[in-house]
Amino acid sequence: MIVILDFGSQYNLLIARRIRELGVFSEVHPYDLPASEIRRRGASAVILSGGPGSVTETPIHPDPAVFDLGVPILGICYGMQVMAHLLGGRVESRSTREYGKHALRFRPDALLFRGCEDPFQAWMSHGDSVAELPEGFRVTASTEDLPVAAMEDGTRRLFGVQFHPEVTHTQQGRRLLETFVRAIAGLEGDWSLGDFIEEAVEGIRRKVGGGAALCAVSGGVDSTVTAVLAHRALRDRLHPVFVDNGLLRKGEADEVPLRLAEAGLSLRRVDARARFLVPLRGVADPESKRRIVGETFIRVFEEEARRIPDLTHLIQGTLYPDVIESMSVKGPSATIKSHHNVGGLPDRMDLALVEPLRELFKDEVRDVGRLLGVSRDLLGRHPFPGPGLAVRILGEVTPADVETLQGADAIFIEELRRSGTYDDVWQAFAVLLPVRTVGVMGDERTYGRVVALRAVASVDGMTADWIDLPRAVLERTASRIVNEIGEVNRVVYDVTTKPPGTIEWE
Ligand code: XMP
Repeated sequence: MIVILDFGSQYNLLIARRIRELGVFSEVHPYDLPASEIRRRGASAVILSGGPGSVTETPIHPDPAVFDLGVPILGICYGMQVMAHLLGGRVESRSTREYGKHALRFRPDALLFRGCEDPFQAWMSHGDSVAELPEGFRVTASTEDLPVAAMEDGTRRLFGVQFHPEVTHTQQGRRLLETFVRAIAGLEGDWSLGDFIEEAVEGIRRKVGGGAALCAVSGGVDSTVTAVLAHRALRDRLHPVFVDNGLLRKGEADEVPLRLAEAGLSLRRVDARARFLVPLRGVADPESKRRIVGETFIRVFEEEARRIPDLTHLIQGTLYPDVIESMSVKGPSATIKSHHNVGGLPDRMDLALVEPLRELFKDEVRDVGRLLGVSRDLLGRHPFPGPGLAVRILGEVTPADVETLQGADAIFIEELRRSGTYDDVWQAFAVLLPVRTVGVMGDERTYGRVVALRAVASVDGMTADWIDLPRAVLERTASRIVNEIGEVNRVVYDVTTKPPGTIEWE
């Protein structure tokens, strides 16, 4: 296995993912994990991740003894700088930050670049750079502006790269990591997501011990896979709860418990529709709506928790992109959206939190679900936000509008399925706008609501592109919505990418 030491880069779990794709198990740990602990875990290699810090200011260090472990070490961006700094080199601040893609040339005999094609575009984002190498190192790659873009000490098997090989914008990045993992660390790559399941089940058992756990199931991919995994670990000590908040897609409140029963779980269904819809009355601000839905959910959930004696744990299906987006929400940058639907829940309830999928990306979660025998249909479902239709009905949420939107959305999804395009789409949905426009039906003037359709392609929801759906699908959808949903007389299609837009409208 490989230990990744986390210096705070938003990409560190992407590194873990790339390593998993090479069939090697990896674990992400805080940057100061003691070297003795790394040895005890049997790591065959260590990766020092990037991070926002600067070694020229207040450096955060790994345990210096990691360099004496005798295993290969790859430092990425900040990881390379801290390696240079600790081993006697010099890092300096540059007047300009280097950001974006740069053509990189490397030495043909550089160990780490074996198998790569010279030159290639490498993605960088840094302010500091290595000015003097530590003893025993040599420069292995440079760009026009950056003399030390990579360095290595072949004898001690220490490597540093100033760019990010883990991001897809770096051509040859995968090849480079593969060389590090296979040729340098000597790892074959026989680990698979099947092993992940065993380890996760074992991990849940270990954490929950003799206790009992509660988990909320929404019917979405993440919570379903989490629940099935946790059920495998805990059997009847797992208490899965499904809260009908009245903000779900059409028919979902009945479907979800049935689907989960197919996967072997018996859900407790809580009808809390009125409890959500009443406090939403008259509220138009998106963040207030999110807060109301989040708080109500917590209250309903707390009541459910009280019914279970000896409850000790809460199991949640948080994924990597949720973690990242919530960090940016919590960070110094402006609030984008408060994604953490039930953030703070475990503290309030005095329960320990278990997040078995935390390091995975959505497509990996789907693969895990498939291996666990969850139905294809359920796994292929488009993501759905926690606050549900409350953030797709712009402005005030009323029961009548929920019904209008459910109807329009169901038509869109049905047409996507019928045309065979549903599975090509990351997420598709209808949005109900708080405006009326003029139309004409028969000989009558109408003054009705507007529905916007959104269908996007994405790998993880962090960036997205609108999909050029076949004209026939859009046409049929629009015509059916206007004809079948009385309130609506106009349908528009959203052609905004993320960024600068977001996927949801609120
Ligand atoms: P945005 O709109 O931020 O959405 O581009 C990215 C992904 O996150 C989902 N989303 C949410 N999920 N609670 C959630 O659980 C939320 O408040 C929330 N807002 C957006 C969105 O559906 C997309 O998949």
